[in-house]
Amino acid sequence: MSGNSDLQALSDIITSSVDQILSVCKAKGKDFPRLDKPIHPSEFTPEGIRNDPQVSDAIALVVTAAFQLIQTVRSPPVTLVTESLKSVLPTCLGIAERADVAEILRDAGPKVSKGKHVNEIAAHSGIDSRKLARVLRCLATHHYFIEVSPDVFANNLLSSLMDSGKDISEPNFRENKHVGAQRGMAAMAGFGPSVTMKCLAEWPEMLFDPKTTSSDEASGSGWRRAMKTDKDMWDYFATPEGRYNAIRFNATMANANKLHPPQAAVKGFDWASLPKGALVVDVGAGRGHVSLEVARAFPDLQVAVEDRSVVIADAKQYWTDCLPSHVKEGKVHFIECDFLQPQPKLPKTPDVFLLRQIIHDWSDRLCVQLLTHLKAAAGPHTKLLIIDCIVEYACVSETQAALTVDSNASKVPKPLLPNLAGANLHAYQADIVLGSVLNAGERTVDGFKSIYEAAGWKLVEVRKNPASKLWWPTMVCEPA
Ligand SMILES: C[S@@+](CC[C@H](N)C(=O)[O-])C[C@H]1O[C@@H](n2cnc3c(N)ncnc32)[C@H](O)[C@@H]1O
Repeated sequence: MSGNSDLQALSDIITSSVDQILSVCKAKGKDFPRLDKPIHPSEFTPEGIRNDPQVSDAIALVVTAAFQLIQTVRSPPVTLVTESLKSVLPTCLGIAERADVAEILRDAGPKVSKGKHVNEIAAHSGIDSRKLARVLRCLATHHYFIEVSPDVFANNLLSSLMDSGKDISEPNFRENKHVGAQRGMAAMAGFGPSVTMKCLAEWPEMLFDPKTTSSDEASGSGWRRAMKTDKDMWDYFATPEGRYNAIRFNATMANANKLHPPQAAVKGFDWASLPKGALVVDVGAGRGHVSLEVARAFPDLQVAVEDRSVVIADAKQYWTDCLPSHVKEGKVHFIECDFLQPQPKLPKTPDVFLLRQIIHDWSDRLCVQLLTHLKAAAGPHTKLLIIDCIVEYACVSETQAALTVDSNASKVPKPLLPNLAGANLHAYQADIVLGSVLNAGERTVDGFKSIYEAAGWKLVEVRKNPASKLWWPTMVCEPA
């Protein structure tokens, strides 16, 4: 392909994919959500237009092609400089979150006549208003918030997602901002900039140190240097100084449900095939927000929410807020555990062990240890469900295509990268973040298979949610 034909092909992919989105909108009588309006709760339901499988396919292509088009046409030095300074964006998001700007603007509305002056916004946290104006202007230029008139800001689609839904006039608002159920993703907007970025900044020191470069312990991450502690992340969360970040992390993980199409975990397995009263053990459940989605759809199932003792209190609060009937009827069990040790006593032999975003937190050696303990507690019919990102190579790979069920590569038009690069950036960012925070990371499908086999499990199916081109599929394993 020539340079000209590359440009033409990218532009054609964008045009035809946008046409596809518009034709679905027309057929369903819907208007595509505008960038200048706060987010609508239907975005998080199967009715949300972005969750239509055809629209989600088209979105993946538009984003990948638009990203590649920008990287192709923009001046290369401008691209390098702009991208070397990308950490400016999470810094500004973190400041806006800490200054509670999205909550302050909640009732200001998106209209030009409304919005709030930066002096009023800054008064809440005591931050210098001229500096906050610069931060908000930078964010508005990245399409977070709108500057409706000079120094007057309002929420838009992206900034409204940072609204926790809580009342800022409540006493102890900041302390409790991330406790319990959340409307938006404020915790994620705060945790990344204030914790993850510090770890990312320190990780290269560990990588270039010959003593730690090949370590498979959590201590080989950037965490200890970044947080000025001798404890790794999970142990730090159990200390009094780690409490605020522990709560914020748990909320971040519950927020992560919004990254999936709705009911991703529900669609990833044939839950209806389980007998009434079957036991689903959510291992490393956090608040148990994944198994809660399953329990809502299949109320006859029992759930065991397993996590470290410091997390279990938070999980009880979450279930009481979100699915009180299951708590009252005794169909959810809260179990403190260390999953690197043999499984604790369970109410019965589990029908399912469910692990979402657990395996990517640990080295191969520790994953095999964990999965071997699960195998020892399993019955002959117990299923192991792993929900995690399967990383695809950034080039065509025949081995990968053979191993990956429904891999992106076979369907991606040229000249796009086969892993849907721009649309799938989060998978690769998460991989590096995990390296920097826990000295762990995402895996390719053969990386998963080798740890399953070493722990006595066999991968039998990889199921993708039809509305998701990019997100974590469910890997179904059985005892080998
Ligand atoms: C990345 S979060 C995943 C939470 C949830 N499964 C999800 O998908 O949102 C990892 C969870 O593992 C828990 N965890 C870490 N080490 C553990 C251990 N040794 N035993 C039990 N749980 C642990 C953490 O407390 C945290 O809730």
